[in-house]
Amino acid sequence: MGFYSIKRRNEIINFLYDSGITEKYKLNGLTVSLNKNVLVPHPATLNLIEQASRLIYKNRQIRVIADLGTGSGIIALTLAKRFPRRKFLATDISKDALKIAKNNAKENNIKNVKFLINTDNIWLNEVKNKKIDLIVSNPAFVSIKEYNSNKFRKNYPESLKEPVAAIVTKDKSGLTPYLEIFNNSLPLKVRYLLLQCNSDTLDRLFRRLKKEFKLTFKFKIIFSDGKKRIIFARRG
Ligand SMILES: C[S@@+](CC[C@H](N)C(=O)[O-])C[C@H]1O[C@@H](n2cnc3c(N)ncnc32)[C@H](O)[C@@H]1O
Repeated sequence: MGFYSIKRRNEIINFLYDSGITEKYKLNGLTVSLNKNVLVPHPATLNLIEQASRLIYKNRQIRVIADLGTGSGIIALTLAKRFPRRKFLATDISKDALKIAKNNAKENNIKNVKFLINTDNIWLNEVKNKKIDLIVSNPAFVSIKEYNSNKFRKNYPESLKEPVAAIVTKDKSGLTPYLEIFNNSLPLKVRYLLLQCNSDTLDRLFRRLKKEFKLTFKFKIIFSDGKKRIIFARRG
């Protein structure tokens, strides 16, 4: 993959998810195997990675970074390659996704990522005894109601081929993963969070986060391709 766009992503989705094969792609300086068990990285995720890179580069105190719901490993592995002295934790609820992510680490000779399985569907439970400075994550982001709506089917036909567990949340609002991540990050004293969001529900999520966590975090919205896509939170 050279230039990476939504169009290119949709081509890969149509090819990979229909054929069921595992295929290697060049993306973000890595060789990344993808198959039907993982999300095909979204262009907005590459922006998320750039935002995280800038933050890590500027901030020496960020030593441990967690990528929650790593899928193919694209976030953790790109950052781990760029910052070989930092430690990375990459988690997923899907064994099949972790298998791909671990293979991708091996293929790219990346050794500073520890992979952890989440066994109870509660975001952050698999890292609750760890010290984490920064969370960079693209969690599941579509409520089951939105997923089943005609609007979603019309606007995002390719998404219907994606692994359901990768994109659909267990609640009606689609906000639970984000609220859980914030709530469970409090006792870990996580200093920064960069979360990729659903542009259709970001405003609602932003209001809710500001209301519930304003005493702990300062918030900012980051755009990707003209859409509100990323929420940045900083303690203090
Ligand atoms: C939207 S995908 C993102 C994949 C990858 N990070 C990317 O950006 O391409 C969300 C990922 O979260 C995983 N996931 C879902 N629930 C989870 C949980 N409670 N804890 C950890 N991972 C979870 C899914 O299996 C999926 O791989």
